[in-house]
Amino acid sequence: MITQITTDIKQAADALRANQVIGIPTETVYGLASNALSPEAVSTIFSVKQRPTSNPLILHFANLEQAESYIKEFHGELKVLYDHFSPGPITFLVPKTASVPNEITSGSSLVAVRFPSHPQFLALLNLIDFPVAAPSANKYGSVSPTRAEEVLAQLNGEIPLILDGGTCHYGLESTIVGMDGDRVIVYRLGSIDLDELSATLGYIPEIKNQAEQSPLAPGMVKYHYATKTPLHYLRKDLKFKENTGYIFIQSIPQGFPSSPCMTLSSTGDLKEVARNLYHTLITMDGCGFNAIYIEKPLDEGLGLTILDRLQRATAKFN
Ligand code: TXA
Ligand code: MG
Repeated sequence: MITQITTDIKQAADALRANQVIGIPTETVYGLASNALSPEAVSTIFSVKQRPTSNPLILHFANLEQAESYIKEFHGELKVLYDHFSPGPITFLVPKTASVPNEITSGSSLVAVRFPSHPQFLALLNLIDFPVAAPSANKYGSVSPTRAEEVLAQLNGEIPLILDGGTCHYGLESTIVGMDGDRVIVYRLGSIDLDELSATLGYIPEIKNQAEQSPLAPGMVKYHYATKTPLHYLRKDLKFKENTGYIFIQSIPQGFPSSPCMTLSSTGDLKEVARNLYHTLITMDGCGFNAIYIEKPLDEGLGLTILDRLQRATAKFN
C-alpha cells in the first residue's frame, strides 16, 4: 500500500466514509482515525497500531450535540469543563448508550469522548455523520507523532492516507476526566494542566492515573511513549559522553557541545517544551546514539504532564 500525504479534507472524508483507517491532525498529537461504527475499520486500527483490544478508543465529535445519542449521562461538572475547554484538548469519560459499539470501549459501560479544536479535523468532522475513533497515531508503546512526516515514518505502507495539518499545537495528548460521585477525577494528565482544571472547578480534582489505581484507563500502562534508544533522566553530576544524546529544557550547560544536545524551549516556557517534546525525542531516537539523557522539568503545571510521560518512557529502561 502507498501512503499518500494530503491537505484535502474532502479526500480524507471520502476515505473515512469508505471505512479506511487514516492519519489525521489534532491539536494534541496525530491520530489514527476511522469510522467508529465500522467494525472492520475499528479492528484495522487495533491491528495497525498493534494495540491490545482490551485498550479502548476515544470517540471524536465536532460538538456535544453530535455526541448526544452516544452519551447516556453528562454530569454538570463535566459540562462546566466542556463549556470552558471544548473544543480543545480534554476528553470526557462518560456512561455510553447502546449506539457505541462494544469494541470501542473494550466492553466498558463508559466511553471516552473528545471535541477537538484543530481546524482541519473539525472541518472533517463536520463533513461526516458518524463518530471518529482515533488513538494516537504511534505504534503501541512508542512516542506519539506531532507532524505528518512522523506518522509516515511509523506507518508508511500500512495506511492509505495522512491528512497533513501541520505541527500539533499542544504536542501532548488530551487530559482525560471522568466522575467519581460528584467530583471530577483526572484519569490522564494532558495538555490542560491541573491548575487550569482546578481554577475552573473551584477544587483540585484527584488524579487516578496509575494502572493499579485505575482499571478504568487501561492505557495508563507503566511503560509507554518510549524511544527505541534507552532514555534516562539527566543527573546533575553527569558528564558529557560520546555517542550520547542530551535534551535540556532551556539551555545547554557548560561542558556539553551543541551538536548532540538539543533544547526544548529557549525561554523555558512549558507550553513550548510540551510542543517540542515528542518531536525532539523522535529526532534524537533517529540519531543512533547509545543512550539519550533528558532534563527533568519542574513538577508544576504542564510540567506534571511532561513528567508523567517521561516517567512512563524512562521506566522501560530502568
Ligand atoms: O489527545 C488525544 O487524546 C489523542 C488524539 C488523537 O485525540 N488520542 C489519544 O488516544 O491519546 P489514545 O488511544 O492514544 O489514548 C487514549 C487513552 C488510552 O489510555 C485509553 O485506555 C483511554 O484513553 N480510554 C479510552 N477509552 C476509554 C474508556 N472507555 N475507559 C477508560 N479509558 C479509556
Ligand atoms: Mg496513545
